Amino acid sequence: MSSSQTSASSLPPLSEVKTASLNTSPALQVSTLGSTERPDAWWIEPVLSVAALLGFSVYVTWAVSQNANYHIGPFLSPLYSPNLQEYFPKLFQALPWLSPAYLVLWVPLLFRGTCYYARRVAYRSFLMTPSACAVGPSETASALYEGETKFPFAVMNLHRYFFYLALVLVFFHWKHLVDAFFYPQGVGVGIGTLVVGIDTVFLTLYVFSCHSWRHLLAGKLDCFTCSAVDKMRHGAYKRQSKLNESHGHYFWFSLAAVWFADVYIRQVASGNWHDTVYLFGQGLTTNPF
Ligand code: FES
Repeated sequence: MSSSQTSASSLPPLSEVKTASLNTSPALQVSTLGSTERPDAWWIEPVLSVAALLGFSVYVTWAVSQNANYHIGPFLSPLYSPNLQEYFPKLFQALPWLSPAYLVLWVPLLFRGTCYYARRVAYRSFLMTPSACAVGPSETASALYEGETKFPFAVMNLHRYFFYLALVLVFFHWKHLVDAFFYPQGVGVGIGTLVVGIDTVFLTLYVFSCHSWRHLLAGKLDCFTCSAVDKMRHGAYKRQSKLNESHGHYFWFSLAAVWFADVYIRQVASGNWHDTVYLFGQGLTTNPF
């Protein structure tokens, strides 16, 4: 008898192995929601994530329904970008109650909502399936989730297409940043310029650290050295992979930058805050609008 035959015949039947595992493995024991032996504060991240995303959602819902104070001088709130009122003035004259943000906001919402990092946050913090490693999951949510094969979770598979739309957003944000240097009195750099600039830079980092962009660069390449183009794509892929490591950070920074940019522009437009600008050749000016 060979050694392989010996070891095979000495193994217990599979049914006994399964039973023994279920009886002895702590990992397979039934756990209740939130039960864990972890001594650390694992709950802080999901709690903060829920608070931040709910706060942002409530604020955005209110801000886009205002249909006012989203534009002042060279500044446009990112929630209303691109400004469709500028491109289709007759439509909004005919429908003055229609907030232009309603027609554009679905793009960043779908892009962010289907983001791989955002999925992690949502599945952990809202669905609790589970909220952290080695923490008891929500049995109800776990039973409902069957992978991203059925509606509504199947929508997540469209993320790569929302990425293309996000590229259009990036283009308009850079246009708004260029506009933000051109004050009515001349060219300058103001606090508003910096606010718009921070929002633009973080949006760009967030979009170009996306997993879909990484896949487009060289995710499907079988050979990294077969041609000069393949080598170039591999180089871009490696650089983007570095950026991709911080994708979660860019998600939050960019969210905060959008939020603050809308707050700042709204406050300046409503007269509560005054922008300060250094105008080239003219010096410092406060309240330029
Ligand atoms: S994976 Fe997060 S934006 Fe694409």
